[in-house]
Amino acid sequence: MPTTNSTSFALAASLFTLTLTTYIYKTHRRTSNLTSIRTSNANDISHIPPCSTESTEERSAPVAVFLGGTAGVGRGMAEAYAKHTNGNAHIILIGRNATNAQAIIDSFPKPTAPGAKHEFIYCDATLMAECKRTIDDLLQRLTTINYLVLSPMFVRSFHKEETSEGKEPKLVLLYYARFKFTRELMPLMQKAKEAGEDAKVYIVGGPGLGKRIDYDDLGFSKKGYSFWKVRRQFPAYLDVILQEFAAQNPLITFIHAYSGPVRSALADNLEWPLFRIFFKVFFELSFPFSHTASGEHMLHAMLTMAKHPGVWSIDMFGETMPEQKIVVATERERKMLWEHSIGETVAPESSTS
Ligand SMILES: NC(=O)c1ccc[n+]([C@@H]2O[C@H](COP(=O)([O-])OP(=O)(O)OC[C@H]3O[C@@H](n4cnc5c(N)ncnc54)[C@H](OP(=O)(O)O)[C@@H]3O)[C@@H](O)[C@H]2O)c1
Repeated sequence: MPTTNSTSFALAASLFTLTLTTYIYKTHRRTSNLTSIRTSNANDISHIPPCSTESTEERSAPVAVFLGGTAGVGRGMAEAYAKHTNGNAHIILIGRNATNAQAIIDSFPKPTAPGAKHEFIYCDATLMAECKRTIDDLLQRLTTINYLVLSPMFVRSFHKEETSEGKEPKLVLLYYARFKFTRELMPLMQKAKEAGEDAKVYIVGGPGLGKRIDYDDLGFSKKGYSFWKVRRQFPAYLDVILQEFAAQNPLITFIHAYSGPVRSALADNLEWPLFRIFFKVFFELSFPFSHTASGEHMLHAMLTMAKHPGVWSIDMFGETMPEQKIVVATERERKMLWEHSIGETVAPESSTS
């Protein structure tokens, strides 16, 4: 009997290894498409209608905002965008790491077009007060936003934590901050659209990876928090809320993209050293995409695949996903999630004055 068990185990282990190796091999092979994606991005960017130049100097360069642009997928997208525009865009990186941001900005081609510039804004997006301050600053200084890319994430542990505002920081970064930035910056995106320019919101998450939302316990405040609940439900929060955004803003393009396995900074802050080392090694050895490769694929989806307004679900190669993989909510469910999200993203009183 023990021999049968060990044989089954060996067989299962071999099959698992074979499947994993095949998957990684295939994925690696497909990453070799990078050169053609890069060429296509360079070409596509030159065909996007130039932004309006008739009003202020500020509006002559496209405006791209990257919350989470100081590392990982967001950084890859910002770098690819800067390269293909020859630096001739107003690029705003938002995050907390000013040193990383400066190094990234220094690597961008230097802007020569009117209104083109590159800047960093500090924002700890786990705090609604900080999100509000940053959004207010953007609303005051910008006349339009063409691309709003949202990819902030920070994982210290898998258990429940609490910010000084009493919120779970992973939930805020994965969903609530992204909701707040999208909703409150929408007037600037509408203005871009009215001027005949591109207006696209790009969320890096996991389209189709969420299975079912428990509408009786939005935000996990009643029935309790667990990492697996978050993993099972939160990607669907993004799918569903973008359906509501699209219903309210029929001229704007909303994209929810899965980056696939990217060798990013995601495991760098895990509080348990052994986990940190394990994940870092695992990422390095088995994750096929560098942040640069992922950035090009994701940029391709933003510039080229998402051709018209509505909601787009995008896979790791920047291609559209089959519709049946995505949770489609009823109008009532969308409204419930909308009301919940508005309630959860109000900044504390002291920061509203
Ligand atoms: N990497 C993957 O394999 C993978 C796979 C599937 C899905 N995803 C998803 O893709 C998204 C991006 O992941 P990534 O791999 O690019 O992560 P990453 O390399 O760790 O980058 C995360 C970004 O979020 C920013 N950030 C972290 N905490 C922040 C805070 N409190 N306020 C503002 N910004 C903050 C970081 O900037 P600062 O440090 O400057 O604050 C950084 O720019 C995540 O939602 C992740 O779940 C990733």
